[in-house]
Amino acid sequence: MAIPTETVYGLAADAENPTAVLKIFAAKGRPSFHPLIVHIASAEALPQWAASVPENARRLAERFWPGPLTMILPRSERVPGVVTGDLPTVGLRVPAHPLAQALLQDFGGGLAAPSANRFGRVSPTTAQHVREELGDRVDLILDGGPCQVGLESTIVDLSGDTPVLLRPGAITPEQLAEVLPNLALDANASGTHCSGRLESHYAPQASVQIVLQDELDERIAAAQGPVAVLSNREPTSSAAFHWLPMPDDPIRYAQLLYSRLRELDERQIPLALVVLPAEAGIGLAIADRVRKAAAPRPSTHAG
Ligand code: TXA
Ligand code: MG
Repeated sequence: MAIPTETVYGLAADAENPTAVLKIFAAKGRPSFHPLIVHIASAEALPQWAASVPENARRLAERFWPGPLTMILPRSERVPGVVTGDLPTVGLRVPAHPLAQALLQDFGGGLAAPSANRFGRVSPTTAQHVREELGDRVDLILDGGPCQVGLESTIVDLSGDTPVLLRPGAITPEQLAEVLPNLALDANASGTHCSGRLESHYAPQASVQIVLQDELDERIAAAQGPVAVLSNREPTSSAAFHWLPMPDDPIRYAQLLYSRLRELDERQIPLALVVLPAEAGIGLAIADRVRKAAAPRPSTHAG
């Protein structure tokens, strides 16, 4: 079943039912060693799913849950190995979306859920996107409207001595530092057990290039075929281009980004030039996702 969350739509199954969890990997075409996040109803359930709950995890939960933050903690016996690719840790999150909340509270257990897209592709931010991604591989889609955040959750690894930011998101490093003064940025950005950290990811069919606003005219003129421009300011170029306007406000930019990347493919535009907002706050997460969309594609998810 696909469910809305405030970040992106997830493809959910009972975390304690290994058969159901395996169906998630099959539907996504995702390698089974890639660990899933377990979604729970509230921070009160944390000790049931984590083998130990350090003080900084409690404080993060109090401050940011329900919300777009995932914590990596040692996993308890309640979490089957199939959920975590046999890692000794588990990702846990309390989503804020009212439908996800209602479902989790009714259900009482944990829902293992990755983003509801095929492996390597752009995460869905509407129910319609899920249908386009997964078609009849998903039996039921709960339509909770467009996702408010539009980018995947911030991930913090609390399982080691020093907390590490594994994936930037709407909860910014500045906000995290209020609770975690010793937060480290991920030193091993190419680690492959975290799918959000593979080089090419979140990618549309179109090739994506990051450019500065000042370079646009030149780059449009140099393009071989149809070209789209994602920017908050319309280029002045006299050559033809498709302008896909982006909001000035980085929070709204994040909300719209994945729909825009999908639009490229719907309109069969092979190349997109993307101007990023400032790399501060949520701008860090935007830059991270666009870089992954722009990264060289391995043949397995090229084209
Ligand atoms: O916003 C989100 O986080 C969305 C919604 C549905 O909650 N979910 C999501 O899941 O983005 P997914 O599976 O697409 O990305 C989760 C990331 C993956 O990169 C995975 O490798 C990493 O979290 N992850 C999960 N458990 C982990 C663990 N125990 N250790 C390290 N990384 C982990
Ligand atoms: Mg994903």
